[in-house]
Amino acid sequence: MPQLQIVPSILSADLTRLGEQVKEAEAAGADRIQVDVMDGRFVPNITFGPLVVEAVRRCVSLPIEAHLMIVEPERYVADFASAGADVIIVHQEAALHLHRLVEQVHQLGKKAGVALNPSTPAATLEDILSDVDHVLVMTVNPGFGGQKFIESTLSKMTRVRQMMNERGLDRDIEVDGGIGVMTAPRVVKAGANLLVAGASVFAGKESVAEAIRHLRASVGQS
Ligand code: DX5
Repeated sequence: MPQLQIVPSILSADLTRLGEQVKEAEAAGADRIQVDVMDGRFVPNITFGPLVVEAVRRCVSLPIEAHLMIVEPERYVADFASAGADVIIVHQEAALHLHRLVEQVHQLGKKAGVALNPSTPAATLEDILSDVDHVLVMTVNPGFGGQKFIESTLSKMTRVRQMMNERGLDRDIEVDGGIGVMTAPRVVKAGANLLVAGASVFAGKESVAEAIRHLRASVGQS
């Protein structure tokens, strides 16, 4: 099972001091930072573009994920790659030619993740799973932070982990949406190891450091 990683996403950060917030997350031992890119078409919200990835890149040395919740991702992967993203996550539902898109990300020297919305079956990964570097199982309908975890996604994580095991793939399974101290142990048990956390890290009552520490503790990590 790949190593557990905490991946704060900036959607719920205090954007008036984004630099400080991502530095706090890095100092608190976050493993990656996720930039939630939204275009108002694939999801009903508009957020960040390559410029914000560039800004985050100047603040932390952690790997940066660009989670492209956009239509026509093929038009923008090069921009996010040159902005400094290390991992580019595209949605199965947004990619007309996913195999070509994954190749495009790899030709840019970046890791390629594929994301599945809650209603998209794990089976859609049958013929692409061995080409991608990791799978993101959305545990909310993408577009906003602080939403309620969707219980039915647990069996999907297990199914994806099973598909990976059947192929001898020791790849990461990432989850995103509603991840906190109550849901983290359950998703890890179901096979996930990359935990994206926005509201639970940046929009709770505790400090970023305490939130990350409690998240790790909830899954038995010190
Ligand atoms: C897509 C967004 C959220 C965010 C994390 O809706 O990208 O998933 O990253 O959400 P919370 O705040 O639930 O951790």
